[in-house]
Amino acid sequence: MDTLDTTDSTDTLHHGDAEPAGSEAPRQAPLYLQIAERLARSIRAGTLKRGERMPSVRELARQQQVSQSTAVQAYRWLEDALLIQARPRSGYFVASRPQPLPEPQPSRPGRASRKVQLDELGQQVLRLSAAPDIISFGAACPEPDLFDQERARRALVRMVQRRRDLLCSYQLGSGQEAVRRAVARHAMGMGCELRAEDIVMTNSCLESITLCLKTVAQPGDVVALESPTHFGFLEILASLHLRALEIPTHPRHGISLDALQLALETQPVKALLLVPTLSNPLGSCMPMAERRRLAQMVCEHDVALIEDVIYNDLSEQEDKRRAVKSFDRSGHVMLCGSFSKTLAPGLRLGWVAAGRWAPALSKMQAIQSGAQTAVLELALAELLEQAGGEAALRQLRATLALRVDQARGLIAESFPKGSRITDPSGGYILWVELPGAVDTVQLYEACLAENICIAPGTMFTAGSRFKNCLRLSVGGRWGPEHPQALRRIGAIAQQLVDAAGLSLAA
Ligand SMILES: Cc1ncc(COP(=O)(O)O)c(C=O)c1O
Repeated sequence: MDTLDTTDSTDTLHHGDAEPAGSEAPRQAPLYLQIAERLARSIRAGTLKRGERMPSVRELARQQQVSQSTAVQAYRWLEDALLIQARPRSGYFVASRPQPLPEPQPSRPGRASRKVQLDELGQQVLRLSAAPDIISFGAACPEPDLFDQERARRALVRMVQRRRDLLCSYQLGSGQEAVRRAVARHAMGMGCELRAEDIVMTNSCLESITLCLKTVAQPGDVVALESPTHFGFLEILASLHLRALEIPTHPRHGISLDALQLALETQPVKALLLVPTLSNPLGSCMPMAERRRLAQMVCEHDVALIEDVIYNDLSEQEDKRRAVKSFDRSGHVMLCGSFSKTLAPGLRLGWVAAGRWAPALSKMQAIQSGAQTAVLELALAELLEQAGGEAALRQLRATLALRVDQARGLIAESFPKGSRITDPSGGYILWVELPGAVDTVQLYEACLAENICIAPGTMFTAGSRFKNCLRLSVGGRWGPEHPQALRRIGAIAQQLVDAAGLSLAA
């Protein structure tokens, strides 16, 4: 092959730069990584086919106008990602993919609601995930380099300079008109028709959800959730003394609406708290027809649906970005979001459109927070309105898709036989089910001894299920040590499987 077609639709958007050679990149990914990611995208897209010969190192260096050592580094990255293979004296070839693992079974939680009691484990995982010496797959926090930090910095500095008056005054109310308008426009992308006055600004998506729950539920009330569910939701429920009712959930299609229907008919459910697009930890996405049915169901049962849309923009399928709220005619859907996963987690701004409960929620928000952080809100409004946001999202989705692909390949290759894994259509969270014998709290402890952090499955339920499951987030810091660490987790899990086999035999 003498020409290397590495162009695709995301190429010109890559890190905001067009070509690695000599161009100015606002977000400076190392050159070898830029080249490797382009090649990886071409392999994923099938432009470079399995078994096909890659250009020689010298050829690649010439084509990309880089040194041979940079070309070698790019090939090493692709080798680690299991995308290419070196054959002695023949060069590099596009690798054949390991046999994909099956997806986990749909969950079958019990039918009773539970008081939520959490141990220290979840907070420990979050704390350790932030430690600099830890190779972390534990927290679902995207790494700062995934975002355009310079764009965020400029917007913030500009706003502080322009509106320093706002720094030295209380700004009462539901948030600056400009940001509420920008959020309403953003929600149009999810099919929602909202007005600026429908939106209340908050400190985060989790704060929006807390406000919704405080508005519609009292201590002791029952809240229905996906199973497994986001650890942060369980913490909120525990802090508000609410009971969790976990509903059977499919790893790809999300919560079972038939099971939910039954629960609504037989139990005193006060609210549903769901992530219909790219749920955490399963990464499931509810089909469109079910979104419509869910909106009808909450209206018929006069129950609040708290819909978390924090990951909608990361969905690779455009139709899955459409919110359940877009089908809501009765105001039973309370829409909650933030830009923590797509723009700038450090801004700490979230929003909520609380439908029929909007006046009560606004009152609750005013009591709880007092005033708003107006300068941050105006900076966010500017960021949301700037051109290039959609391009940055496409780039983010593409980068994350590569990582997920790489991680799934490594897991298929190195985890014990009988493991299962989700195949999310976006985002950066994977849910792995290990053969029944493996206790993932034990796995967590053994990994921690080697400075690797994972999130054991028991964190994601109010009950005691998912003992053999783990969540792996690949959105955090991602260096050459991460693929190695994934292989190591697989090897340790295999040791635990072997040990369990021995103890069964004894
Ligand atoms: C489903 C879901 N909602 C909300 C959050 C937190 O968002 P924020 O940082 O805006 O509170 C997370 C973060 O892990 C999440 O996974």
